[in-house]
Amino acid sequence: MVEIAPSMLGADFGDMRRAAELVAPESGYLHMDVMDGHFVPNLTMGSDLVKSLKGIAPLDVHLMITDPCDFIDDFSEAGAEIISIHIEANNPSKAIDIIKEKNIKAGIALNPSTPVDAIDFVVDKVDLILVMSVEPGYCGQSFHETSIERVRNYKEKYPDKLIEVDGGVSTSNSKKLIEAGADILVAGSAVFNSEDPIQTINQMKQG
Ligand code: DX5
Ligand code: ZN
Repeated sequence: MVEIAPSMLGADFGDMRRAAELVAPESGYLHMDVMDGHFVPNLTMGSDLVKSLKGIAPLDVHLMITDPCDFIDDFSEAGAEIISIHIEANNPSKAIDIIKEKNIKAGIALNPSTPVDAIDFVVDKVDLILVMSVEPGYCGQSFHETSIERVRNYKEKYPDKLIEVDGGVSTSNSKKLIEAGADILVAGSAVFNSEDPIQTINQMKQG
């Protein structure tokens, strides 16, 4: 069954705990978008903010940072259950080894413009493939339709890996993504701009 991971980047940062507690009962994970202003042109959250939500729901940390190796200790200690790093970042193979040493799930993320086979040299070591369906950096961008085929391709090739999709996910594309084999759907604006976030999450789960 598909899990929904609300992206907390789409929530009100002044009221993050309340937003997390609201969505947690129907969410598999809280998705935490960490940006360094270098890998992407935006700054978001550090490990202290991630830690402040520990225990509300499992934490899925998406590192959009140039040097992930330097920060894995911090996010592991903050309570991450999944840490994903980008194939386009520095030393992805070493970063995955460090994550696995923490006995948590390791994910490899890739941008929509990155060829699918770019992850071949690390894929055996990861638990999860994070298919970006927008260019990373901001909430509220339009979904790249080509992501559906990328999900299908990965699920066929790697049926034992979790496939997570992130960016522009909503009730208008969740069905196609689930049919293509997605295991985790990340959604920021679709959930937090909704009048009824719980109903939106449940609609996405049903496809
Ligand atoms: C984009 C982030 C996403 C984003 C999702 O760089 O990785 O997790 O917050 O937000 P929506 O669902 O609004 O595209
Ligand atoms: Zn993300």
